[in-house]
Amino acid sequence: PFVPLRRIAPSELATHGARKNETKTYWTVLEGKVYDMTPYLPYHPGGEKELLRVAGKDGTKLFNLTHPWVNWDNMLRGCEVGILVSENEMLK
Ligand code: HEM
Repeated sequence: PFVPLRRIAPSELATHGARKNETKTYWTVLEGKVYDMTPYLPYHPGGEKELLRVAGKDGTKLFNLTHPWVNWDNMLRGCEVGILVSENEMLK
């Protein structure tokens, strides 16, 4: 059966940032897909701190600046939360 992707607005994404985060889970966006990076944090070769730089926001640019060769789509399979949409799109 068709399972619709969960839609996530920037305001919800921001509640999963590095600071003032009551959810204790850390999300980022890569190419429009929202990922929960929390389980991956201890395994990142570049360290947790670098990952947290993109928590709560779009990480695509920084990711591609650092290591465009890394296959994030495969690595983060199972960590996908949904897709990023605008606040306006959310109201539809
Ligand atoms: C290294 C994954 C986000 C900084 C790596 C490596 C992987 C990886 C697999 C090893 C690459 C290699 O040796 O060829 C990921 C994933 C990310 C992510 C899945 C997103 C969820 C970021 C971000 C930064 C970053 C946002 C911020 C600048 C680094 C650095 C290294 C690294 C500096 C090099 C570590 C070293 O070799 O000493 N990452 N990364 N990563 N990553 Fe990330």
